[in-house]
Amino acid sequence: MQKFYYIKTYGCQMNVHESEKLAGMLKSLNYEETNNMENADVIVFNTCCIRDAAEQKVLGNIGATKKLKKLNPNLIIAVCGCMAQEDGRKDLIKEKYPYVSIVFGTHNLHKFKDYLIEYNQKKQKIYNIWEKEEEINENVEMYRTSNNNAWVNIMYGCNNFCTYCIVPYVRGRERSRAMDDIVNEVKGLIKDGYKYITLLGQNVNSYGNDFKDGTNFAKLLKTLASLEGDFRIKFMTSHPKDLTEEVINTIATEKKISKVIHLPVQSGSNKILKLMNRNYTVEHYKDLINLIKQRVPNYFISTDIIVGFPNETEKDFNETYNLVKEVNYGGVFAFMYSPRTGTIAEKMENQVPQEIKNQRVNKLLALSKSIIKKQNEQLVGKVLEALVEKRNDNYYEATLDCGKNVILNYDGELSLPTFKNVKITGINKNKLVACLCD
Ligand code: 5AD
Ligand code: SF4
Repeated sequence: MQKFYYIKTYGCQMNVHESEKLAGMLKSLNYEETNNMENADVIVFNTCCIRDAAEQKVLGNIGATKKLKKLNPNLIIAVCGCMAQEDGRKDLIKEKYPYVSIVFGTHNLHKFKDYLIEYNQKKQKIYNIWEKEEEINENVEMYRTSNNNAWVNIMYGCNNFCTYCIVPYVRGRERSRAMDDIVNEVKGLIKDGYKYITLLGQNVNSYGNDFKDGTNFAKLLKTLASLEGDFRIKFMTSHPKDLTEEVINTIATEKKISKVIHLPVQSGSNKILKLMNRNYTVEHYKDLINLIKQRVPNYFISTDIIVGFPNETEKDFNETYNLVKEVNYGGVFAFMYSPRTGTIAEKMENQVPQEIKNQRVNKLLALSKSIIKKQNEQLVGKVLEALVEKRNDNYYEATLDCGKNVILNYDGELSLPTFKNVKITGINKNKLVACLCD
């Protein structure tokens, strides 16, 4: 009888891609995907622990599977990813969620298939968290799920230890994939017809630092941009302390490199940046932004911001607010600081009350919304490249480099998906409307 799996993914794109690897392993054991958790023979929770809210959501959802396990004692419930890797979480799951069958962390994700086989044979629970990261494993099956976009890891882990962040504790130190392995994977994806290839790393700008042979992110971008085919390379996330002029110039001049730069600033106050251990100043950050604006045609800059970091005063917050206004970001992901056990900031004095965090995040989001509205209006009349992806009755759906959706009024034939230059003609119910240019 056909068996089914259901994967619930929390958190970032890194996790979305790792779920594609989990799905690949499940498929190789002849499981099929289901969208209905109640039909599943295997339920996997691929977790996130970056903020407390994410963790509470995961724990609540795991708790809700208790009744499914009662109905179907053969159901396999697996918990993996960042939260599983976090100190003490394995024991918590063991104690409070005894119906969970398999627990594994970020460092042994590639072993999931073995654990599943073992569990199916022995029916004994598996709790296996590796303390340390290993060499990169290149032989993981994948089942890609993101339409025209394919994710590609270029590095794992993070060395930065921003004082608020739990990622370095649950994902280990930076390890770059060999350039040849990345290039070969990308070549295969181009051949398979993927149009967007998104390079993933916690800090893509430090790609290659661990090789100590001059390999760097700019070289990787140039190599990938020189490959044959009709595709665009995207990447995330960039760290302002490592983004070089060479990378900015490469983005500016290579047609096949996306002009979207996600450059998390986290705060507009030098005092807070220091407490966060971000290793750059607001002045340095602004210099980078100015360079991008001068050199990169059709740039799109977005950012992450944390409000309510310990010791953040109204003055500090206003500096952040003014920076957002000045940079005029295309997108702002604003988060309320969430203390994470084991990090330095968790122990800092002068934690900011929740109510103030709420006020500050809302203020930033309102500002960002008004900026985006204005930017959309300013797009009218512009000619931009879009990926035309889907045909409807008398229009096509397309996506700009920055990810905005466009309704393309055109009733001729196009072989999809295809990159086309479109002219933005207006805005209809918050959606950009365009016509074909060439
Ligand atoms: N609290 C709130 N936001 C956080 N981030 C990372 N750690 C925390 C935390 N403890 C945010 C940062 C990062 C994004 C992925 O998540 O802004 O860039
Ligand atoms: Fe966390 Fe800082 Fe590393 Fe990003 S760079 S993953 S915020 S420690």
